[in-house]
Amino acid sequence: MTSINTTINSSSVVLVSGGGRGVTAQCAIQLAKQYQCNLILLGRSSLTNVEPEWAKNCFQESELKKRIMEALIALKEKPTPLKVQSIFKNISQSREIDSTLSTIRNLGGTAEYLSVDLTNFSALQTAINSVVQRLGKVTGIIHGAGNLADKLIEDKSEQDFEKVYSAKVEGLENLLDCIGIEQLRFASFFSSFVAFYGNKGQSDYSLANDILNKFAYLLQRKNSTCHVVSIGWGPWDGGMVSPHLKKKFTESKIDLIPLEVGSQFLIDELNNNYQRLPQIIVMSRPIISESKHFFSKNQTFRIYRKLTLEANPFVLDHVIGHRPVLPAMCALSWLINSCEQLYPGYRFFSCENYKVLKGIVFDETLAKSYTLDLHESDTSIPNEINFEAILWSESSKKIPQYHYSSKIKLLAKIPQVLSEINPSDRLLKQEQISLSPYENGTLFHRGNFQGIKRIISLDSEGAIAECYVKSSEQKQQGQFPIQTFNPYTSDMLFQCLLVWVRHFYDFGSLPLQVNQIKQFKTIPFDRIFYVSLTIQSKNDNQAIAKALVFDESGEIYLEIDRMQVTISSRLNSLF
Ligand SMILES: NC(=O)c1ccc[n+]([C@@H]2O[C@H](COP(=O)([O-])OP(=O)(O)OC[C@H]3O[C@@H](n4cnc5c(N)ncnc54)[C@H](OP(=O)(O)O)[C@@H]3O)[C@@H](O)[C@H]2O)c1
Repeated sequence: MTSINTTINSSSVVLVSGGGRGVTAQCAIQLAKQYQCNLILLGRSSLTNVEPEWAKNCFQESELKKRIMEALIALKEKPTPLKVQSIFKNISQSREIDSTLSTIRNLGGTAEYLSVDLTNFSALQTAINSVVQRLGKVTGIIHGAGNLADKLIEDKSEQDFEKVYSAKVEGLENLLDCIGIEQLRFASFFSSFVAFYGNKGQSDYSLANDILNKFAYLLQRKNSTCHVVSIGWGPWDGGMVSPHLKKKFTESKIDLIPLEVGSQFLIDELNNNYQRLPQIIVMSRPIISESKHFFSKNQTFRIYRKLTLEANPFVLDHVIGHRPVLPAMCALSWLINSCEQLYPGYRFFSCENYKVLKGIVFDETLAKSYTLDLHESDTSIPNEINFEAILWSESSKKIPQYHYSSKIKLLAKIPQVLSEINPSDRLLKQEQISLSPYENGTLFHRGNFQGIKRIISLDSEGAIAECYVKSSEQKQQGQFPIQTFNPYTSDMLFQCLLVWVRHFYDFGSLPLQVNQIKQFKTIPFDRIFYVSLTIQSKNDNQAIAKALVFDESGEIYLEIDRMQVTISSRLNSLF
């Protein structure tokens, strides 16, 4: 462990952004109490040295607002609620800053207040330079400046985002550019527990605070002699926690951090002479995680997506009749991934009744936008979420065109597969079959889709194939990245059936539907696996098969039931 000596003493100069008011002011006061150090407090509010006569000694909110109205009327100005509130805010904030300064001075510390916007670099630099000449160079930073603009993401404006983001992130960058990490013994950022847990209406706030967390790691790495810590505070009993927010936290059973406890925690953390984690979370009482649905009743979600050929290079390896076509397994992964993203922590287990109604072709027929409708069908079963999914687009004549549909099941815990016999026993029956499906026109797949390496056995009852799919880069996978379902390795299931059809019918075939897929484990890239196919029914127009995917040790990854392809002589010329 690297020893860091933060040694705060009466000659330390600590710059505290947001230190004039709120919880950061309490921390500045606590520092003064303990060390009688020099504090530079920073905020945008101006400090009014002389209050108007009518405001003096008036501390009650309603009375002060009444006097503000009277003063405006005397000036022949309209006392709008907005104007009154703004003047009231200025007076209260100035009083709070003034009180912070005098408390620090009474405790034996030195305090100066800089009225400056952290996001204005040149103003900040000028202000800091002038104070440093009087107090000496800054030895520690507490970055507590921050703002809220709580709203649902769809209601947020750019200004809302800017207000929240800039004070935290640009503010920190500017501070460090003005001061320089090399001279600092400690740097503490006031982040929030929300960066980790998330919170409704606080997407910008979570993001900005998490940048502070990541910044702390970077800074600690750059300067090992400075104690860097980003503190993800739980809610305090003060500062930006309004009475309304307090009520909400109480309802969520989250206790507030008392001012003295929080500020003392900071002092102890800064006094720690050993390097600890650059990121910590401090709650008064931890949030209790309950395994329950986020939503109480069946929900419907509508998700829009645009597809482009440029964004999905992999489809160029899946060309049928000169036209790049979205593989059926990729379309299924679109449905699965979307469901999983709605319920973090739940994993795809099975799908039922998956239908390819109208495949997506990357040519002039590509729709401007595709719509995925997900409807939760049964929320009553614990640790299980069921969706009915339908993916559609609007034709040029404004008529809906349905592309894919399926039922998708997510589980909190994937069950173990039960198999009486070891599937790898099937590998004992190996035949000498020289089939080169990618060269003889059986399969049209190219590049990384060429995953069937060997046909081990093939008869009228089914087939067994040895497969190995090389991993592809994230960029290559485009808008169809792998989550728990790997569409690229799973594609081998349909390919095996296509090989079987070509062998026995000499016709091309294409995926139509699947009755059920159960996945116990993701079929991996860069590893040999086997597909064992058993024909369930066949005629001149279609073939239906079940299949099992397993590896050499007999571990089962996936099973599929009633996988159906359509057979047609017309397809021969397209492959
Ligand atoms: N209170 C909590 O429960 C809690 C919980 C987790 C994290 N935090 C974090 O702790 C910090 C302090 O919170 P608080 O509750 O004390 O908030 P607060 O009462 O709203 O105080 C915020 C402070 O930041 C200053 N500020 C905002 N934007 C600024 C800018 N652009 N330039 C300079 N100063 C700026 C404000 O001063 P002016 O308005 O005068 O500019 C004010 O002094 C925040 O960063 C917050 O995210 C608080």
